[in-house]
Amino acid sequence: MTNHGRSKHISVLLKEVIEGLRIDAGKKYIDATVGGAGHAREIVKKGGILLAIDRDPEAVRRANQKLKGIETHLGKAYPDNDKTVVVPAQSSQPNFKCVVANFRDLKATAEKYGFSPSSGILFDLGVSSDQLSQVKKGLSFMTDGPLDMRLDSTLTRTAADIINQSSEDELYEIFTRFSQEELARPFAAAIIRARRLKSILTTRELVQIIEERSGGRIGAIHPATKVFLALRIAVNHELENLQEGIVQAIDLLEPKGRLVVISFQETEDRIVKRIFKKKESEGRLTILSKKPVRPSQTEIRQNPRARSARMRLVEHIS
Ligand SMILES: C[S@@+](CC[C@H](N)C(=O)[O-])C[C@H]1O[C@@H](n2cnc3c(N)ncnc32)[C@H](O)[C@@H]1O
Repeated sequence: MTNHGRSKHISVLLKEVIEGLRIDAGKKYIDATVGGAGHAREIVKKGGILLAIDRDPEAVRRANQKLKGIETHLGKAYPDNDKTVVVPAQSSQPNFKCVVANFRDLKATAEKYGFSPSSGILFDLGVSSDQLSQVKKGLSFMTDGPLDMRLDSTLTRTAADIINQSSEDELYEIFTRFSQEELARPFAAAIIRARRLKSILTTRELVQIIEERSGGRIGAIHPATKVFLALRIAVNHELENLQEGIVQAIDLLEPKGRLVVISFQETEDRIVKRIFKKKESEGRLTILSKKPVRPSQTEIRQNPRARSARMRLVEHIS
């Protein structure tokens, strides 16, 4: 499917997210990472009034199209977990709004569109399958594209800039800090050697350097996986955004409002866990998922991308 077509992204932990958010018809929800709009669709179907955000304009455009076509359950009966639920009709207002924004600015965005406070907020982190398959974004080591990785046009520094301008120590730091790459030092050194001959400008060129340096060892994951992850995180300031976005989300919740965060790698999950614990100790929220919720084997079989997902759920107290 092309980027202009329907999303081919499969939503992770869909049932668990919707149950966790406890959607009430007519109440306000924010999807801070709308992506392929799979979670968003369920929220709207259940009669939630949704503010859908993404930093990627293409994702927002596609989400808008997808949500427009939804028949909501407002004013209708629908089956839900073996019982029939009747959702009261609320109003003729459109029940969703899709906007391009970075969740680093969640508070201002929510206030601008009348979603402060909200009854539930979702962060489903990382990138979608649609973005991975966009060759020009250069996010995938499986296709040959420009070494770019920027998720939005406000960013000026590409992955190629990082690869060609950073010192060996800086590259080592990026690969270690953002994705715990065990071969960070040899990979950084190999990149420095290769770029003395020619700038590294494409994903294929970078993959070749990594493959050569890893000696063709084929483990459970491709040897370039962690280097690509680390570069994406660095280019898009993902950890800083996460830190700021989650703190703002907690402030935006109404009493008993819920926040769901799905992360796909340890560094992100640690940040989320640390913020939740701190806010719990301050009496601001209750952690409802003592251990992160993981996808079932069935889900992983149907969607291998789900295998590293961890979902955390909290409820606001006051
Ligand atoms: C895994 S996808 C979300 C998939 C979506 N939940 C679904 O069901 O289709 C993650 C999305 O988050 C977006 N994103 C990443 N960082 C963001 C940020 N700081 N602000 C807003 N959106 C962001 C990406 O552009 C991507 O579209």
